[in-house]
Amino acid sequence: MNVPFIDLKFRYQEEREEILGCVETVLSQGHLILTEEVDLFEREAASYIGTKHVVSLNSGTDALMIGLWALGIKKGDEVITTPISFVASTGAIAHIGARPVYVDVSDDQNIDVSKIEEAITPNTKAIMPVHWGGRMANMERIVKIARKHKLFVVEDAAQAMGAYYNKKHGGTFGDIAGFSAHPLKNLNALGDAGFLATDNEEIAKKIKIYRSHGLESRDNCVMYGVNSRLDSLHAEILRMRLKKLNSVVQKRRKNVSLYREHIKAAEIFIPKESDNEYHSYVMFIVQAERRDALKEYLGKHGVETLVYYGTPLHLQQAASIYGYKKGDFPVAEKQCKKVLALPHHQNLTDEQILYVSEIINNFYR
Ligand SMILES: Cc1ncc(COP(=O)(O)O)c(C=O)c1O
Repeated sequence: MNVPFIDLKFRYQEEREEILGCVETVLSQGHLILTEEVDLFEREAASYIGTKHVVSLNSGTDALMIGLWALGIKKGDEVITTPISFVASTGAIAHIGARPVYVDVSDDQNIDVSKIEEAITPNTKAIMPVHWGGRMANMERIVKIARKHKLFVVEDAAQAMGAYYNKKHGGTFGDIAGFSAHPLKNLNALGDAGFLATDNEEIAKKIKIYRSHGLESRDNCVMYGVNSRLDSLHAEILRMRLKKLNSVVQKRRKNVSLYREHIKAAEIFIPKESDNEYHSYVMFIVQAERRDALKEYLGKHGVETLVYYGTPLHLQQAASIYGYKKGDFPVAEKQCKKVLALPHHQNLTDEQILYVSEIINNFYR
């Protein structure tokens, strides 16, 4: 049996009529940028998430970077974050000239909240947790620490559409949250796309101007900005897919329950889901003994897997400017040797899940 990691071609066939309908809606108007679809998407996404504002942008990376900028974070400031994430989390901090200050992670791969306070210095301006894989970080404690030390909270909610903590949606805890709508996310566009959520009207207004060259109107540039507008076609696609998001997340959660039930090997660690979280499972990452050999074995049996990621952020070549070294964040470093993302998407069949589980169990027998 072949089990691809993800199957975007299949998804296209399934949604073909709806996608072509979106193309028709947008292209038939003769306008492609900042049309009504963009406004509608922003309102609908804000209502889904539960924030007052959503500002759509080109990518999740832009949402984080522009969001940090809008909070006034700048060169010389420090932002506390985690070494377990996609490089964009740190990239956003680095691009505005601030310094990423890492805090090690817990077993569940999210920032270890018990270690945050010891990383705070007079230069710390924000805490940026990452809801890794769709699992919410412990926002109750993070917000408490941030309030005590008068720090901003910037949620890297790139993977958090459809994820909840204490029944509150990801992205509603911080001052701002950056979401990605990259094709591999639960809510995804036809290419790169992203958005920022906030309750702060001033910030939302500032970013709306900044994302469009700093133009307040066609001939009135009030600051130099960037071009980071969500395309109208993407907005219409996202509107269509937002309506299906809950069922996508439910299916993904069902997949994971089945994986949990059928993977019996003691060499596989799957972090538990605690009572106060609702994981959206953008990715299903296990921690495996002899990971590389298991990956190869799965590949030989037609199962495509990916390592997310083999190198923690503090040991990336780009991070050498910050002076971190091997051993600084031992939990993250150990996990990077074990993590393996199994095939996981809403079109995965039960038979495929049972097959992958069986191959894993056989490998360790
Ligand atoms: C945790 C995390 N942060 C940031 C990003 C960046 O989002 P984008 O790819 O939309 O720029 C991603 C994207 O994969 C991500 O997974």
